Amino acid sequence: MLQKNDNLAKELVLSAKAARTKEQPISYLIQVVINNPTIINLAAGLVDPLTLPVEEVKSITNRLFSNTARGQTVLQYDTTQGLADLRKAVLAHMEKLEGMPASKMGISADELMITNGSQQALYLIGDVLIDPGDIVIAANPSYFVYTGALHSLGARVLAVPMDDNGMDVDAVEKILERLERSGELPRVKMIYCTSYFDNPTGLTLSTDRRKKLVEVAKRFSTSHRIMILEDAAYRELRYDGEALPSIKSYDPENKYTIISHTFSKPFAPGIKLGYSAMPIDLLHACLQQKGNHDFGSANISQHIALETLRDGSYYKHVELLKKSYAVKRDAVLAALDKHMPKRDDITWTRTKGGLYVWITLPSFFDTSRSAQMFQSCLHTGVIYVPGEYCYQPDENGRIPTNHLRLSFGAVPIEKIEPGIEMLSRVVKEYLASNNAPTAARVGSAV
Ligand SMILES: Cc1ncc(COP(=O)(O)O)c(C=O)c1O
Repeated sequence: MLQKNDNLAKELVLSAKAARTKEQPISYLIQVVINNPTIINLAAGLVDPLTLPVEEVKSITNRLFSNTARGQTVLQYDTTQGLADLRKAVLAHMEKLEGMPASKMGISADELMITNGSQQALYLIGDVLIDPGDIVIAANPSYFVYTGALHSLGARVLAVPMDDNGMDVDAVEKILERLERSGELPRVKMIYCTSYFDNPTGLTLSTDRRKKLVEVAKRFSTSHRIMILEDAAYRELRYDGEALPSIKSYDPENKYTIISHTFSKPFAPGIKLGYSAMPIDLLHACLQQKGNHDFGSANISQHIALETLRDGSYYKHVELLKKSYAVKRDAVLAALDKHMPKRDDITWTRTKGGLYVWITLPSFFDTSRSAQMFQSCLHTGVIYVPGEYCYQPDENGRIPTNHLRLSFGAVPIEKIEPGIEMLSRVVKEYLASNNAPTAARVGSAV
């Protein structure tokens, strides 16, 4: 009896939320690379280590600590919402990106929140909006770290397809019509959209769809507001073409949209800082949760971010990044053009920014982690992100397994062509072993 009680006492009973929370697939991919350091890593969503702003941050921190009073402020707590001067500086920065005054988007520094990376903002927003069973509409494919977090919060993530113009907004409208008919509209809390150079596809939402998405969210906000969460993590990393207005810019009253930005991609993930603008009622709810999480982001990071915006080193750095990533993006596309089998059922995105290229293989391919192709790539010396992670299942519970994501962030430029050559070799072997019919090549872009 005593022994039985003893065993019972050792059982760990986790919360329903912990039980719903799955390991993020990225942990496995990182482990594979740690175990095989020679592998060519086309999976990691990391930024390029060679471009990190070491000198800029060194000179900023020297400056911060050469003044004792400032140094003491930097090492003290600040507010939950974030350093007021930083909020003003990022607001001015957002005005530059948008080419319009913040007042036209109904926002001021009071509607901004500084977070530990944009991931924390995404999480807090999900946390304050979603009860288990609530619905979030997202694209298929989507940024899998966030859809993972949404599942852990108990959300039902309903996915719509994507094409060259980004998320299919007509399909969002159709889902909302269907949910209205079935009486489930009150469960819809949010539409999640990575609007610039999406992770994983590299695709960007077209201007007319941005406008329409706001219209649709407004129209279906009958019993409550359906929020659009615009994830703009890659906004500044544009290598070609004209800058596009944000979804947020079509919501002048700041009622239906949230925009989330980060310092991780355009500056340095090591300072792990993000900033988001949202309606004031939502902001208050998020700040109460953030108060429970950490009651404020690391002040030293906030001062570094403030100084880099103030002294202009941020803008110089973004320009340098754009040049350097454009060369890597071109190297990826050139290597794919050169080495991938030329068939009209093998296509990839020709991204104009960001860090990703999304490859579609014939439907009989299986790129998933447990399948032979992934293992053959590891064996050959290259790793990618299996597309399966980025999809929500269809009505029949099926997920396509013929896609993969390549990232050109962390991989050294000289490894890009060898890595893609290896991947292409595996694809050719797979085609040969499956006796695939040879289709004529029509074009490579999706
Ligand atoms: C689409 C997208 N959103 C948000 C994030 C979160 O990044 P961070 O928390 O570093 O700002 C990432 C990171 O890779 C991302 O790809």
